[in-house]
Parts: sequence; structure tokens; C-alpha cells
Amino acid sequence: MGWVGIQGKGENILEIENLSVEVGGREVLHDVNLSVMSGYTNVLFGPNGSGKSTLLMTIMGFGGYKVTKGRIMFQGEDITHKNVAERAQMGIGLMMQRPPNLVGVQLGTLVKTMTKGRVKPDALAKELDLTNFLTRDVNVGFSGGEIKRSELLQLTAQNPCFVMLDEPESGVDIVSIDKVGTKVHDLLVGTSCAGKMDRSGKASLVITHTGQILDYVNADRGYVMCKGTVACSGNPRELLHEIRTKGYDECISCNIRRRSPQPLKIEEA
Ligand SMILES: Nc1ncnc2c1ncn2[C@@H]1O[C@H](COP(=O)(O)OP(=O)(O)O)[C@@H](O)[C@H]1O
Ligand SMILES: [Mg+2]
Repeated sequence: MGWVGIQGKGENILEIENLSVEVGGREVLHDVNLSVMSGYTNVLFGPNGSGKSTLLMTIMGFGGYKVTKGRIMFQGEDITHKNVAERAQMGIGLMMQRPPNLVGVQLGTLVKTMTKGRVKPDALAKELDLTNFLTRDVNVGFSGGEIKRSELLQLTAQNPCFVMLDEPESGVDIVSIDKVGTKVHDLLVGTSCAGKMDRSGKASLVITHTGQILDYVNADRGYVMCKGTVACSGNPRELLHEIRTKGYDECISCNIRRRSPQPLKIEEA
């Protein structure tokens, strides 16, 4: 294992060990090491094209993301070769950056199936101003912000124990951002969720480009992904400040540290 998480707040639910992934015949992720504990909100920063979405799509188990090295452990079980449905049933959920259109599948039908009767889709949709969208095919003709809200609605319906969000704020207009941010916050907290989880709470991995979502979530740890590997970790607000003031240059020096024989230690945020 590359590095060791802090003990105390919860159990180590996700461990990514030396993971390398090929997409479209090219290695996009190289030797990624990351651990996530229940009760923790983790934020992943990184420049465009560094492999952030690839990492989340690989954790979710989508086809086309070929693991060539390493493994993904979820709650002590090796899930590297499990399919998306199996992972979803275990309590893993993802808000995609660019979800596909589901022609012939109405949003309301999908949400109803996902809530398994626990929650009424109408009430959930109302909170995200999506009432008129329930009879529309998922994502078909939706604007960027509408897609984000639709993804959030579906994820709220699934209520997974391990929540992954790929740029939840991008494309959301300034009027909706408060609603989306609050709903994201609500989704990340609490101990009641679908899947197996100890009492120390849900866990999450949130990709943010702008850092705007940090105004709504209590982020515990931050990571920076550069050139296909997790290069730095630290206090998420401090990392965001560094990125805002210095760009991603620091990432390169972190990358050099990452390759040193000393394994990186995650610092308490
Ligand atoms: N299906 C694909 N085929 C070929 N290259 C891909 C594919 N998906 C992603 N990539 C490449 O992998 C790299 C990482 O992409 P991505 O994970 O989307 O980055 P990020 O989310 O950090 O912006 C990019 O160079 C991108 O072009
Ligand atoms: Mg991306």
C-alpha cells in the first residue's frame, strides 16, 4: 500500500492500491494510491485532463476503464473486477461529469426505482426544481445545470454510503448553486445510507475545479491529481489557496516527493 490513512474517525472503506488504468489504449492513471475512511469528505483537485474523472469512473466500474495494475478494495473486499451494478448495490454512487442520455427512460421512473419506495420522487424533485422534468427522458435536451441537478436527484434517491461527485457545481447558475450546494451537503452527511457502513458516517470523494463546493461541504482532506497520479494531500482549503495563488506548479514538486522512497503520510486536516 502506498500510504496509510489516519485512524480514529471511522473504518477505512475504500483503498486504492497502486492503480494503473488504460483508456482508449493509453495509460491515463499511473500508480494511484488513495484511502478513504467513513465519516470523511475528501476533495480531489487537479488540472484538466489529469485523470480525475477517469479515477471516479474506474472506481464505479464502467467499461472502457481497464485496470492494468493494482486493485480497488471496498470495505475489505476486492472490487476491481465487479461490475457497476454490484458496486452500486454495495453502496457506491457517482454523479458523473458527463452522464449519457437515457432515451426512453423517464427521470421520474428511474428515481422511483432507485428510492425503492422509501421517498416520493415528487418531493425530492421539488427540492431541486425538477418537477417538470420527471416525465422527460433522462438528460435528453437538459442544459448543463439541469444535468447536474438531475444527477444529484438520482444520487439522492440512491443515497449511497460512499458518494462520488464529479464537479457538482460546474454549469450550475448562481441562482441554483445554493440549492445544489445545500443538497450536496445533505447528501454527504448522516449515517443512514444504502450499503454497508459503520456508524461513523458516509464517506465521499468530490472533484472540484473551482473549489466553490467547499463553501457547502465540510471537507476533511484534499488531494491533488497531476498527470494521472495523486501527487499531494493536505488540508483542502490550504491546497485550494495554493492552487489559486500558484496554479498547479506545486503539483510538480509534489510529484517528485511522491516518487521518493518515503511513503507520503496524510496529515490531519
Ligand atoms: N475514452 C477515452 N479515450 C481516450 N482518451 C481518454 C478517454 N477518456 C479520457 N481520456 C483522456 O484521459 C485523460 C484524463 O481525462 P479525465 O479523466 O477526463 O481528466 P479530468 O477529469 O482530470 O479533466 C485526458 O487526456 C483524456 O483525453
Ligand atoms: Mg473530469
